[in-house]
Amino acid sequence: MKKRTLLSMALVATMALATFTGCGGGREGSTTDTAADTTKTEEKADADTTADFPGFEEGATIGVSLPWLGTQNWKEAEEMFTAQLEEAGYKPIVQAADQKVTQQQQQIESMIENGAKVIVVGPVDGSQLGAVLEQAKEAGVYVIGYDRLLENTTGVDGVVQFGSVKTGELQAEALLKGLEEKKGEAPYNIELFGGGPADPNAPNFFKGAMSVLQPKIDDGTLVVVSGQTDFTQCATVDWDNAKAQSRMDSLLAGNYSDKEIDGVLSPNDGIARAIITSCENAGQEIPVVSGLDAENESVEWVWSGRQYSTVAKPTNDLVAKTIEIIDSLQAGNGMPSTDVTADNGVIDVNIYELPPVVVTKDNAKEVFANDPSRLELLK
Ligand code: BGC
Repeated sequence: MKKRTLLSMALVATMALATFTGCGGGREGSTTDTAADTTKTEEKADADTTADFPGFEEGATIGVSLPWLGTQNWKEAEEMFTAQLEEAGYKPIVQAADQKVTQQQQQIESMIENGAKVIVVGPVDGSQLGAVLEQAKEAGVYVIGYDRLLENTTGVDGVVQFGSVKTGELQAEALLKGLEEKKGEAPYNIELFGGGPADPNAPNFFKGAMSVLQPKIDDGTLVVVSGQTDFTQCATVDWDNAKAQSRMDSLLAGNYSDKEIDGVLSPNDGIARAIITSCENAGQEIPVVSGLDAENESVEWVWSGRQYSTVAKPTNDLVAKTIEIIDSLQAGNGMPSTDVTADNGVIDVNIYELPPVVVTKDNAKEVFANDPSRLELLK
């Protein structure tokens, strides 16, 4: 905690210097604060006056920089941004960085050079884009974080995302419910998985999940047989399904030769399917496994009972919210007001937060009532 505060102070000092020496994009960042998490504040966003947010021409170039296309949500984002920005009359440049920080920095630089008025960024590593985003700010380009927080930079005007701590809570609540439904009386043997450590969502998902699971570990309802309960032990570098599968293989070989595994906390659907496959290969009965993204394949697995739950965070809604903000900026109306902010290490960033929804076989038809392609999978 102390370390983090000191780090934040050092970064504040560095960024303050950068603000004075830079030529300024006409927009000041929000106030500095070292509060740890997403917080609700009282109407703070009204400080963003339209004078700080000059509009720009219709038909302007808009950059979208995505971290990779390795999970369905990012592929959907690529398609939806391209189609919907065009439909709204903009010129989109949509690129993905294949999990490589340098590639993403270069793509963003070239979007600035190509005259983008807004750059939408889902970072590979939330903390490694500071310099290029300051560059965007100095060039008068608006920067909107997409799905993931942009950390350690004043070069961000707001972030559009689904509640990340909330997502973890939903995953853990579903895991507990599934264990009670499917695995008889407690205690239950479980293991924990986290997402990619460079992605600011991953520790938040884990933190939300542990806020629900830790009390149940403490009272003996849940037993983490391997003893691995720290995020660093449980994280999956680059959200790589193969790495998760081989960690699960080792956990099973090392701890479960004479035990059944009842449940696994999984941070997303790809990793959930890797975990389930590993358990099947080891001859285990399928454990209760959580997920995220409502990927097509996992929606089918939830429907057939192979994966217990997922969490829906519809890409369409997130893209629509982002384009709504771009339209507001284009018209010279600035960033819409919001009462949620997150400390990104140097500033409090406005967060435009949408609610994630848990999906199990019980409510899948309701959740996907307006999503014909997923509804189609429930057969
Ligand atoms: C997104 C998830 C996705 C994961 C891996 C996270 O930041 O919120 O939807 O599964 O990245 O791509």
